[in-house]
Amino acid sequence: MDNKEKQVIFSGIQPSGSLHLGNYLGAIKNWVSLADEYNCYYCIVDMHSITVRQEPAELRKRALMQLAQYVACGLDPKENTLFIQSHVHEHAELGWVLNCYTMFGELSRMTQFKDKSAKHAENINGGLFTYPTLMAADILLYQTDKVPVGEDQKQHVELSRDIAIRFNNLYGETFKVPDPFIPKVGARIMGLSDPKSKMSKSDPQGCVFLMDSPDEISRKFKRAVTDSDSENCVRFAPDEKPGVANLMNIYSSVTGKSFEEIEKEFAGKGYGVFKPAVGEAVIETLRPIREEAERILSDKAYLQSIYTEGAQKASNTARKTLRKVYKKLGFVEKPQL
Ligand code: TRP
Repeated sequence: MDNKEKQVIFSGIQPSGSLHLGNYLGAIKNWVSLADEYNCYYCIVDMHSITVRQEPAELRKRALMQLAQYVACGLDPKENTLFIQSHVHEHAELGWVLNCYTMFGELSRMTQFKDKSAKHAENINGGLFTYPTLMAADILLYQTDKVPVGEDQKQHVELSRDIAIRFNNLYGETFKVPDPFIPKVGARIMGLSDPKSKMSKSDPQGCVFLMDSPDEISRKFKRAVTDSDSENCVRFAPDEKPGVANLMNIYSSVTGKSFEEIEKEFAGKGYGVFKPAVGEAVIETLRPIREEAERILSDKAYLQSIYTEGAQKASNTARKTLRKVYKKLGFVEKPQL
């Protein structure tokens, strides 16, 4: 199918932390197969990251690392548009315009803003407040149909819809109205030390990073929380045994085995056998990804060609949308400079 006939998917991840198993099994792994059916844009949203303080050298390193990891995870840069947000200036420009069509009250109601301003009470800056309008710009620039996001970002996609509808009502059809997209497959991976909360970099012991060494991965799985009873039996019971269910979920995602098959495989064997087995399976899944990411990262010219081509493809589309918006707003047409 030609890209022009395909629906558009857009998603973004901040380069403010290292990618982990939850990002991979819950999101990136499933993005790989979407390219056949959709025209996919995946953006490294570095401009969103500076809403909280970043160490400049770290930010740069993580953005490049994230790009290398996307490719290593199987996102083909020829089939997908992989780019860095700050390379496409239309994001900032449309972000400003959308600020003028978003209400103070709407932004005040965003739960992520409330959470983050509680967490960073010493730095509640304007960017943190208008974060959702920049995100709306990301999405609307590409006439996006679907936005794959987790539960926590649904409110932002809803706001993007409201802004698009409001603008279209005032100025006529300008933006496609996007939908949040929760893919059919995609595991929700919980922390290894606290199976009640999502795997997250804020708990490094319970979080398996894509670049962790086999030894680290093995150690983290051996320490994984199973359950508080003494049953010592691999059985899928998410309410009673969330830790075991999470490990089964991970094992199932990386091996393709069903829960039934897993229960059979470990019947009578106990957690002492099960936990290292999950660790081994994860090590073997992540090994080629880690090695490929390291190889790409060391090939500076290749990495640069990926983000250059990505930014070119992205700006071709973004430019058209922004031109349309500026015209509708009544801005004087920009001369050739
Ligand atoms: N806000 C998203 C997050 O923190 C990241 C993001 C920025 C995004 N722009 C986006 C996600 C556009 C989807 C679409 O996870």
